[in-house]
Amino acid sequence: MAKLFLSISLLILAISQSLFQGVKSSASFTFINKCDQTIWPGILSNAGIAALQPTGFALQKGETKVLHAPSSWGGRFWGRTHCAEDSDGKFTCATGDCGSGTMECSGAGASPPATLAEFTLDGDGGMDFFDVSLVDGYNLPMLVAPTGGSGHNCTYTGCMVDLNGACPSALKVMNADGEGVACKSACEAFGDQEYCCSGSYGTPDTCKPSSYSQLFKTACPRAYSYAYDDKTSTFTCTGADYQVTFCPPSTTSKKSTEEQATPATPQLNTGMVYEGADQMENHAAPWYTHIQGVIMAVVMVVALL
Ligand SMILES: *[C@@H]1O[C@H](CO)[C@@H](O)[C@H](O)[C@H]1NC(C)=O
Repeated sequence: MAKLFLSISLLILAISQSLFQGVKSSASFTFINKCDQTIWPGILSNAGIAALQPTGFALQKGETKVLHAPSSWGGRFWGRTHCAEDSDGKFTCATGDCGSGTMECSGAGASPPATLAEFTLDGDGGMDFFDVSLVDGYNLPMLVAPTGGSGHNCTYTGCMVDLNGACPSALKVMNADGEGVACKSACEAFGDQEYCCSGSYGTPDTCKPSSYSQLFKTACPRAYSYAYDDKTSTFTCTGADYQVTFCPPSTTSKKSTEEQATPATPQLNTGMVYEGADQMENHAAPWYTHIQGVIMAVVMVVALL
């Protein structure tokens, strides 16, 4: 009799496991524009997987847009700035342009410099891997914040400070008015293998942070500042949804010129940095993960009878 109970219970456990895993097979992304200007997010899905649509759209100041990713989706997001259509209807942007000539990027990536948010959903161990990268330079402050997920480093990442004003002149990209609109990586600006982690510098042991990458790292400690910056820049979550915020509130407030000149001291008062900060600190496991534990306990008890 106990054997019958045990096998029935195991069956129930197996069914519940597949059911509850099915609850969260993919993630939603909420794009929020807190910039003073319209942003045109671009999306590039990794090769060989179902693409996230649309591949580009306009996000007005203050606007929010939700997209649902296919399961096991991977790819990158970035923000394009100062976009316009010319008289021939060709769409181009001053930063982050993908060269498609249209609002949608249709499989084309950002031309650097651009701040990138990179995701691999449902990767190793069922975890989502994500990061914000300045390896291809910087054009906008971005915050990636998981909601509702679990994991030991399931927390926010990003580059919350305005690096355009503070960018060293050798790396600075300016618009026609002489205003800084982006900041190149040292690799892009100088092309040295040492900065690009290529050639004889193509391994984690040989490619070290440079004074330029350290400038990015000091300003944005959670973001990738050079190719092998993995340890401090890759975050993981299980069962999370994500908010991708352009110009999170700490950066839109007026800064003194002194602060702008010193990127080394980002002003991040923890807890007041952005709306919903308390939500980001919530590492609690989603409710359905507990159900399995309860069922497991019931199985144990029944098996012991
Ligand atoms: C987060 O966890 C992953 C997987 O354990 C690890 O590789 C990564 O270095 C961690 N990231 C941080 C910022 O601690």
